[in-house]
Amino acid sequence: MSDLVRRLMVTGGAGFIGSNFARLVLAGDGLEKLVVLDKLTYAGNLANLEDLRADPRFAFVQGDIADGTLVDELASDVQAIINFAAESHVDRSIEAPEAFITTDVYGTYVLLEAARRHGHARFLQVSTDEVYGHVPTGSSRESDPLSPRSPYSASKAGADLLAMAYHVTHGLPVVVTRGANTYGPYQYPEKLIPLFITNAIDDEPLPLYGDGLQQRDWIHVDDHCAAIDLVFRLGEAGSAYNVGAGNHATNIDLTGRLLALLERPASLVRHVADRPGHDRRYALDTSRLTALGWQPQVTLDDGLAATVRWYQQHEAWWRPLKSGEYLEYYRRQYGDRLAAGTVGA
Ligand code: NAD
Ligand code: TYD
Repeated sequence: MSDLVRRLMVTGGAGFIGSNFARLVLAGDGLEKLVVLDKLTYAGNLANLEDLRADPRFAFVQGDIADGTLVDELASDVQAIINFAAESHVDRSIEAPEAFITTDVYGTYVLLEAARRHGHARFLQVSTDEVYGHVPTGSSRESDPLSPRSPYSASKAGADLLAMAYHVTHGLPVVVTRGANTYGPYQYPEKLIPLFITNAIDDEPLPLYGDGLQQRDWIHVDDHCAAIDLVFRLGEAGSAYNVGAGNHATNIDLTGRLLALLERPASLVRHVADRPGHDRRYALDTSRLTALGWQPQVTLDDGLAATVRWYQQHEAWWRPLKSGEYLEYYRRQYGDRLAAGTVGA
């Protein structure tokens, strides 16, 4: 953590990447205070932070990043913000985009205003490679135009650009990270990897969209968090940094690897109707990040094996999540698709 910043607020810290990041920074001794602000939406979970709650440096506040009064009060007591808070699932942004605008765009604006008012030393906006849109060949560089194609990525692009504008206009020391598809422990089981692992454990079908040949650039959450920490400390204000590990895999290839690790048959795969506007490919040029001294530490083989083991050993964490609202969402998202799907290899 930055030598200058001893009091930090992490928003969205009860979610997947934010909770792993909180664990990473509290494992070091650079901070005297870590405030996690999280609304605890369906994706937020205090169980993700259970092991940190006894740490005297740690404080949890349940609240909304779009709540200006609360954010101003919390911002007055810290020196920097790292904004992980977001509605983060593309499929939900297609079904119900409003929360994406209020949290990802308006909420980021509220945080930026508070950081500006209180003269913060740093503001890190956690963005995504999805802001570049579909990348048919080659890899995205930070200077490429943003061309988002889903309500999720459009709302993240809005926040990303707004954060940059606060640097240019107000001199706020903003850095932005544009991370690739991330996987690892504590990921809510609506995203591809934890959904397919937990479904396969239960011998439930794995709904693979379209032809399954879409490509993603996969990064383990520990590598993603280490990169955010590094950019926070060493990144140049006003710059964006791509964060990817160069593990390019098609969804069908990834599904095969998960099934092999879980010793489940390919007949669990269902080819189902594609996601509307589905980006075929993301790929990142990470030379700006590696120039800061970062290298990924986790190979895709090791990371997937460890992640499968984690979900096998933490049923008590994920089983309660696959109930209530989740099951309603699952029925809406997959019910008709699965009924019309075809068994695939
Ligand atoms: P997540 O959905 O697991 O967690 C999001 C967290 O934000 C939850 O704890 C939720 O309760 C909280 N939150 C939502 N709305 C809020 C609000 N209005 N106020 C306060 N808290 C709120 O998401 P994640 O996968 O951990 O992603 C974290 C960040 O990283 C997001 O900004 C996402 O866009 C970005 N990102 C994710 C990935 C990925 O593959 N998961 C890749 C690149 C970037
Ligand atoms: P996801 O984890 O939703 O991340 P993103 O859309 O942000 O990349 O999906 C990863 C890939 O897996 C994406 O190409 C969509 C695909 N996918 C499926 O084929 N089936 C599913 O049920 C889900 C959730 C995703």
